[in-house]
Amino acid sequence: MNRKQEQAKEASAVPRHVAVVMDGNGRWAQARFMPRPAGHRAGVDAVRRIVEACGHRGVEVLTLFAFSSENWTRPEEEVSVLMDLLLRTMEKEAGKLHENNVRIRTIGDRSRFSDRLLRQIASVEQLTADNDGLDLVIAISYGGRWDMAQAARRIAEAVREGTLAPEQVDEELVGGMLSTAELPDPDLLIRTGGESRISNFLLWQLAYAELYFSPVLWPDFRESHLDEALSWYAGRQRRFGRTGDQVERLNRA
Ligand code: IPE
Ligand code: IPE
Ligand code: MG
Repeated sequence: MNRKQEQAKEASAVPRHVAVVMDGNGRWAQARFMPRPAGHRAGVDAVRRIVEACGHRGVEVLTLFAFSSENWTRPEEEVSVLMDLLLRTMEKEAGKLHENNVRIRTIGDRSRFSDRLLRQIASVEQLTADNDGLDLVIAISYGGRWDMAQAARRIAEAVREGTLAPEQVDEELVGGMLSTAELPDPDLLIRTGGESRISNFLLWQLAYAELYFSPVLWPDFRESHLDEALSWYAGRQRRFGRTGDQVERLNRA
């Protein structure tokens, strides 16, 4: 990013990292007397729109919650529709995203993925690895608790091997062991579908995110809804524990 873009970004206070809980697909379909998978398919169009819009708005990282650790408990048929949709969407969209300089990666527990999905993930990650446009992170089979547990396990292993001393374990080290290690923390969390909860998304990383809850069901989420969220975000004063006066003084300096 050049200096001019940087200035534009400071002025409009665009979040560097936006995380989205894409909720409400099932209800969208049910309201139309359609089966739930139809809602998931319509949700893919919303993904396409929001990825493109975030790129245009100068967002650096977009993390999408596509499938949670807990979603494995859904009826087998819905799980298989969702896995299939993820696979096919990646297959179909990878080329265009690559053309648009998007870098794709996934986070989550891969232990239950099919070989085909694993291969597809490896292939899109590899294809887009050198792109330096929007960083698109797709959370599949992801849970914030899983992420912290896998980080704790790796830290414990390093201590056992003698490459790490317990005194070295601090917030920075833990953050670096999470699946989002190289990414800035989300500045803005958007959850669609009307629920006001985190549902085990990025628990550690959301510590200071601004939380925006929208009643709009994910398949209905348009660029204009994103812009509403972004302008709401731009109006927040992020204090990070300081007083409002301190923050104002810092901004003037
Ligand atoms: C979000 O929509 C998509 C996933 C969780 C995979 P839902 O399927 O949860 O939709 P609702 O909440 O039932 O409407
Ligand atoms: C959160 O939505 C997970 C995703 C959007 C992938 P859910 O619909 O699974 O959340 P809960 O169960 O209602 O909290
Ligand atoms: Mg839901």
